[in-house]
Amino acid sequence: MDKLVIEGGTPLKGRVRVSGSKNAALPILMAAILLDSPVTYTNVPRLRDINTTLKLLNILGMETSFEDGAAVVKPGAGLNPEAPYDLVKTMRASVLCLGPLLARLGEARVALPGGCAIGARPVNLHLTALEKMGAQFDLDSGYIEGKADRLRGAKILFDQVTVGGTENLLMAAALAEGETILENAAREPEIMDLAEFLNACGARITGHGSPVIRIEGVESLSGCEYAIMPDRIEAGTYLVAAAMTDGDLLLENCPMGALDAVCSKLREMGVSIEEAEGGLVRARRGGELACMDVTTRPYPGFPTDMQAQLMALMCVSSGAGTIRETIFENRFMHVQELVRLGAKITVTSQSAFVRGVPRLTGAPVMASDLRASASLVVAGLAAKGTTEVARIYHLDRGYEAMEVKLQALGARITRAKE
Ligand code: UD1
Repeated sequence: MDKLVIEGGTPLKGRVRVSGSKNAALPILMAAILLDSPVTYTNVPRLRDINTTLKLLNILGMETSFEDGAAVVKPGAGLNPEAPYDLVKTMRASVLCLGPLLARLGEARVALPGGCAIGARPVNLHLTALEKMGAQFDLDSGYIEGKADRLRGAKILFDQVTVGGTENLLMAAALAEGETILENAAREPEIMDLAEFLNACGARITGHGSPVIRIEGVESLSGCEYAIMPDRIEAGTYLVAAAMTDGDLLLENCPMGALDAVCSKLREMGVSIEEAEGGLVRARRGGELACMDVTTRPYPGFPTDMQAQLMALMCVSSGAGTIRETIFENRFMHVQELVRLGAKITVTSQSAFVRGVPRLTGAPVMASDLRASASLVVAGLAAKGTTEVARIYHLDRGYEAMEVKLQALGARITRAKE
């Protein structure tokens, strides 16, 4: 296993390119199952989760290739309905093949993802909604077995906003018979990207980006060439890293339109974020940083995927603030690790109370999930002395070449064997 060794205290300076979005790429790649002809994706990030998705598409019977940020997926001789546990357990988003398989093949056998470090994360909302479209499910030996004749359009009201559930249903409804209306749908920019992709393949989707999405099912969908949107969470992480290290960064390919809540909270805390020439975004400290209160919410609210990184920044800001996590029930595992670096944080149920300290000090810490890993890296970059972040395979799932990008910005960071 690899770890990152960080010698903290160097301000990050220079220009960094934001990669394609992992969370947009995963469902958009999975949507290839719905297509009659080959599709070419560009701006695909080189990440472990992308490789896992391409491997899953192979297992399901499709041909894939991935070179220089471009992935090509071709329909194979026939589709196979089974997504095996060995793969699903390494990436929960594998469950996103369920809707497309049911729509295209009329059957699916997908391993139940199981628990995950940031909470129970069930898929009940995906299943209930697909049942409304005529699918039937059984649970057999840890597998969700789904069957359907051609899926039928339906009116679906999600009890709770679910990103993955909305994506699964969008894909299933694209090839269903008749109209599907999704109410209380997720509005995340990645949902927009998926709907735009499906429309480029011939789907008839309107209302995406609002809580009510209408999908008029079509008979078939064909491949196209599509560029995946930039990663708003990676971008947000670099905005935090600029402020945290008292650096000065220029972000290329930064999706400002998808970062309103993040930029507004960071600006409130004293971070200067300005659009610069050539479509770049400049981030640095605007003055003394101050703690604020923040609550995670579905989009357009503050994203749970930026909670850990914002907490790291609060740890070195003046005053105190409360972070309330409302999306996942167990997403404060980075707290104990930040405390090892000298942070002052107390957790009660779904809230973390952070009192800023003048400086963090390096220590060995352990990454527990993807965004927690990122928070420990940015904290290590700002800390005095050496921080070793163990178990960074989480980071490799979601941040393209993070230590390479950071090295180019002047950070003293290296990858080593644990
Ligand atoms: C996606 C993102 C993840 C992000 C999350 C919230 C991907 C690959 N992952 O995850 O990075 O943190 O959105 O923005 O895009 N829930 C249920 N039943 C369900 C489905 C969800 O109870 O059937 C609950 C979950 O446990 C969670 C909440 O709903 O508490 C939101 O989950 P959801 O929006 O579905 O997140 P994911 O799609 O898993």
